[in-house]
Amino acid sequence: MRMMMSVIIVGLQWGDEGKGKFVDYLARNFDAVVRFNGGSNAGHTVMVNGRKVVFHLLPSGALWGKRLFIGPGVTVNPEELAQEAALFPGLKLGVDLRATVLTPFEVWLDRKMEEMRGKAAIGTTGRGIGPSYAGRMFRLSLRVCDLLSGKPPDYGPLAGAFGYSEDLTGWAEMARKEVEEFAGDVPSELMEIHDKGGSLLFESAQGSLLDIIYGTYPYVTSSNTIAPYVSVGAGFPFSMVDSVMGVSKAYQTRVGSGPFPTELDGELAEGIRRKGMEYGSTTGRPRRVGWLDLVSLKYSVRLNQTNSIILTKLDVLSGLGRLRVATKYNVDGRPTDSFTSIFTGNAVPEYTDLDPIPDVDWAGYAREGRLPQQAMKLVEFIEDQVKVKVSTVSVGQERGMTVEL
Ligand code: IMP
Ligand code: MG
Repeated sequence: MRMMMSVIIVGLQWGDEGKGKFVDYLARNFDAVVRFNGGSNAGHTVMVNGRKVVFHLLPSGALWGKRLFIGPGVTVNPEELAQEAALFPGLKLGVDLRATVLTPFEVWLDRKMEEMRGKAAIGTTGRGIGPSYAGRMFRLSLRVCDLLSGKPPDYGPLAGAFGYSEDLTGWAEMARKEVEEFAGDVPSELMEIHDKGGSLLFESAQGSLLDIIYGTYPYVTSSNTIAPYVSVGAGFPFSMVDSVMGVSKAYQTRVGSGPFPTELDGELAEGIRRKGMEYGSTTGRPRRVGWLDLVSLKYSVRLNQTNSIILTKLDVLSGLGRLRVATKYNVDGRPTDSFTSIFTGNAVPEYTDLDPIPDVDWAGYAREGRLPQQAMKLVEFIEDQVKVKVSTVSVGQERGMTVEL
């Protein structure tokens, strides 16, 4: 039988589902790990022997010495690339020639625009991601290949309109040196690995509900985050992908502004935030928290053609005294199970209450490879509603705190 050769890991919520832990956990079984969207707005946190490592731009597989790729659909900040690359001597990294280069101008513009938006600010990570994707659409951005051929950055019309006057010639020279050794034709390399029987792990950044088209626009990121974007962002056809693994927390979180039907406040929210350590790994901001939203989960599962679900941070829900899951929305007095209803109306979630999950010795359960009965009930409830198997449950940050079902 053919091994599982190309797999995508994608977030099914608003990011921070815990993809990093799983990419890291799975990476040892793959030949290469690939990023295909976003840029250094990602914050993939991995715990290794008690040491916390956060990746913003590199694929998480660096820890296993795997081949790493950054596809043409990613926006690359050369300075951040250099900083992360320096952590891994002998790094085997390929960055696509067509990838967009992100300069200090976009970082400046991201902050400037957020300021100008005032109350309507998106709450971006401030890494220049939106302006960089916009610059690409304006056909002003440099690609990695442009940097290599010595083309000077020229944001003429945009920079003029915003009053940016830094000369980036010196910066570009420095940036060229940082990316030169990694630049190549990533889609060709991926296909070569695939054709030789090698295995590829694609790691999506952010989450499906932050997708620029399918997410809660305008409170989204500026790239496509859903699995089919792999065809564009990595140049690897989605039809050749063997499996899509969707990652969801057992509850819901979001950083930044935007709709969040199941959001909680008060003590309960604070309790979950503290226990789940729900603070942004890129920005340090406290994350908004709420109950698991199955209306949005069904939507994401379908958009990604999800084959299995990885459920994370289940342990955080233990000992809370209550457990709820949203199964429907009520929009302007009408019940609906359509997520898109939130684009035109105000969604009030309808909940199903489940048996609370008691505080248990999660490490013990993880060792034995099982879950307490109340937690199993939640898993089965999700599977029944969403019609996709939960393959794996995470009950703690460390690699070992994982239960395969
Ligand atoms: P941007 O991607 O920096 O433009 O930010 C746009 C929105 O996406 C903001 O709400 C950010 O908080 C959110 N966002 C961007 N990257 C991540 C991520 O990796 N995890 C969670 N939220 C993110
Ligand atoms: Mg994150």
